[in-house]
Amino acid sequence: MGVNNGGKHMNHLNRGARSQFRGSWQQRLLTLYGPWAVVTGASSGIGQALALKLAESGLNLVLVARNRGRLEQMATDLTARYGIEVHVVDLDLGLETSVERLADATRNLDVGLLVAAAGFGTSGAFLDADLEQELEMLNVNCRALLGLSWYFGRRLAKRGGGGLVLMSSIVGFQGTPFAAHYAATKAYVQALAEGLAVELAPLGVDVLAAAPGPTHSGFASRAGMKMGAGLQPQAISEPILAALGRRSTVLPGLLSKLLTYSLMPLPRWARVRIMGGVMDGMTKHRRNTSLSLPEVE
Ligand SMILES: NC(=O)c1ccc[n+]([C@@H]2O[C@H](COP(=O)([O-])OP(=O)(O)OC[C@H]3O[C@@H](n4cnc5c(N)ncnc54)[C@H](OP(=O)(O)O)[C@@H]3O)[C@@H](O)[C@H]2O)c1
Repeated sequence: MGVNNGGKHMNHLNRGARSQFRGSWQQRLLTLYGPWAVVTGASSGIGQALALKLAESGLNLVLVARNRGRLEQMATDLTARYGIEVHVVDLDLGLETSVERLADATRNLDVGLLVAAAGFGTSGAFLDADLEQELEMLNVNCRALLGLSWYFGRRLAKRGGGGLVLMSSIVGFQGTPFAAHYAATKAYVQALAEGLAVELAPLGVDVLAAAPGPTHSGFASRAGMKMGAGLQPQAISEPILAALGRRSTVLPGLLSKLLTYSLMPLPRWARVRIMGGVMDGMTKHRRNTSLSLPEVE
C-alpha cells in the first residue's frame, strides 16, 4: 500500500469560483458529509463516477483500489479541475489487513463519508467455480465492507455524524442461479445496510444501500457475463448520492427500478427462476462444454 497526496496546494480561488456552479444537492453533500470522503473501488466504473461527483461537490477524496496508476491520474485531474485535496491509497481489499491499513492512512483526516463501491462478481455454474476466487470475492465484497462499515461507522458516530454508502445490487433481492454466490454477497450487503440505517440514524450516521441494475463498467468482463442493456456509471452516480440521508435503499436509474419492481409482486421462488433465466442468458457463452467435475477428496 502507498499513500500519496495528489494535490497538497488547495486552490481556494478556484474552489470559490467552482462553488458558484454547484447544485444545491451538491452543496448539501459537502455540508453534511464533507470535508473528506473515502471511496473504495475508485479506479473504475461506479466508484469512479461517484468519486467524480463528490469532487464536483467540493469534497476532498481518499481514492482506494489496487490500480495505483489510475488513481494517481484521477488525483491529478481532480485536483486541477476542482481544487480539492486527493490522497491515493493502493490497497487490495481481499487482504485481511486492509481495513487496518486504510484506518492508518486516514487517521488524521476529518472523514465524513465512506463510499464502499469496491467489489466484483463471478458467474456460471456454481460447481464449476474456482473456490479460491469465490473466497476472494467474499473477502472483498463482504469481509472488507463489514470491517470498513464498523470502523468508519464508529468514527462517524464519534464525530457526531456522516454517511456510509454500501454497494449492493438488484441481484441481492433474491437468489440468482448462475451468479449464486455473487448474489449472496450482495444480499449480505443489502441486509447489513438496511439494519445499520435504522441502528445508526440516532447517532447522526446516514446509511444507504445502493442497488444498481446492469451498469456498463469493468464488472461484466471480470464476472464473465455478457451484458445487454445497461446504464452508464455517470447516470447512476447522482441519484445514489442524492438519496443519501433521505432513504435507506436506492435503485438508481429507470432500468434498476423496472427490473426490481416488475418482480416484486411475485413469490420469491418465481423471482429466483426468472433471475436464473436472465443470468443463464448472460453466461451461456461459458457453458458450451458439459460439466466436468474434478475429483473431490
Ligand atoms: N456493473 C454492474 O452491473 C453492477 C450492478 C450492481 C452492483 N454493482 C457493484 O458495483 C460495485 C462497483 O462495480 P463496477 O460495476 O464499478 O465494476 P468495476 O468497473 O470492475 O469496478 C470495480 C472496482 O472495485 C475495485 N476492486 C476490485 N477488487 C478489488 C480489491 N481486491 N481490492 C481493492 N479494490 C478492488 C476495482 O479496482 P482495482 O481493480 O484497481 O483494484 C474497481 O475500482 C461492485 O461492488 C459491484 O458488485 C455493479
